[in-house]
Amino acid sequence: MSKELIRLQNCCMAFDDEQVLNNLNLYINDKEFLTLLGPSGCGKTTTLRIIGGFTTPTSGDVFFDGVRINAVPPYQRQINTVFQKYALFPHLNVFENIAFGLRMKKVPDPADPSGKRMVKLSEDEITRRVDEMLEIISLKGFENRKPDALSGGQQQRVAIARALVNRPKVLLLDEPLGALDLKLRKDMQMELKKIQQQVGITFVYVTHDQEEALTMSDTIVVMDKGSIQQIGTPEDIYNEPKNAFVADFIGESNIIDGIMCADSIVQMYGRKFQCVDSGFAPNEPVDVVIRPEDIDIVPVEQGQLAGTVTNVTFKGMQYDIIVDFRGFKWLIQTTDHSPVGAKIGVKIDPDGFHIMKKSAYSGKFGDYSSYSEEYDELSDTEEPEDDAAEGDSHEE
Ligand SMILES: Nc1ncnc2c1ncn2[C@@H]1O[C@H](COP(=O)(O)OP(=O)(O)O)[C@@H](O)[C@H]1O
Ligand SMILES: [Mg+2]
Repeated sequence: MSKELIRLQNCCMAFDDEQVLNNLNLYINDKEFLTLLGPSGCGKTTTLRIIGGFTTPTSGDVFFDGVRINAVPPYQRQINTVFQKYALFPHLNVFENIAFGLRMKKVPDPADPSGKRMVKLSEDEITRRVDEMLEIISLKGFENRKPDALSGGQQQRVAIARALVNRPKVLLLDEPLGALDLKLRKDMQMELKKIQQQVGITFVYVTHDQEEALTMSDTIVVMDKGSIQQIGTPEDIYNEPKNAFVADFIGESNIIDGIMCADSIVQMYGRKFQCVDSGFAPNEPVDVVIRPEDIDIVPVEQGQLAGTVTNVTFKGMQYDIIVDFRGFKWLIQTTDHSPVGAKIGVKIDPDGFHIMKKSAYSGKFGDYSSYSEEYDELSDTEEPEDDAAEGDSHEE
């Protein structure tokens, strides 16, 4: 059974007159991998800083293990942080970088029966714990390297070991892979998830990258403009987005105006479609999400709707095609090639529709008109030269 470790209750944060967090309510379970996901400026780092104790909320409470910790300073919380700009000590080797926190640490003297006398950790204990960390981050044999003789990914792993060696209950990670190139970032995502499971501690992870969040997290908290939009498992968030913002931010979504005629019947483009959603008022206006991979292309006469292909992009695994349905452009992902200008029919199974309540985000997302313009622009310009990533030459 997972147990609640951290709780943010009605947390608000304002800087000057700008409200940057609006009444955040959130709990984090022990040993959970929880990700705060949202666009730049939505309040992720501020939330992390509140958990870490670097910032005090303007109002609201923070609990750790049931105890209110608003006034507890960072160093007295059982929480450590890995920042995007992880500063390793350049003059210290890998071993000493990891050992640094342990050398600072004082523990009760086992030889003192009163338990009051504090002593430093023994050299043996330090070596044992650093070795254990080197094993976990797969950098055994790199003890004597200086940071500048490590790749970006290796440096990041050392930064993580340094934060974990003091055995915090929680590790906060603020876009820790942001500085790495794509391939390395993917490898590190797997690596981090493995480390988290191995050491069995709670990770609170910040990213603006939805794919990263989907890959790594037990729970995702989607944020926008200082408010939580949805909390759920990656599957929940992808399959059952709460509003047009979440549907658009997580994966690709066509979002179309609809009317819920009755349970399991939604109307779009003046036509009725079978869906699997229910619980709406009769004739309630709704947002209808259709994922690009849930649409089948069929001959026009067999289609539920007919549209015209306006753009085709080869993506390796599939084609991304943009299809105009009466002025509203959809993205469809398909393995069949349809040329630009082709009239096509589409078919969508009942469970391919996801119906959402109207929200402040309705009408703002889910039309791919600008997407095709972006593609047109891209094909007009030269491919930029790929800069060889510096510092990755030492990667095993
Ligand atoms: N110390 C600060 N003073 C004033 N405004 C701040 C401060 N820290 C953050 N903000 C503002 O709060 C908002 C949220 O910032 P942040 O939490 O860093 O977002 P994210 O990490 O999601 O990009 C932004 O508008 C940012 O400019
Ligand atoms: Mg940030």
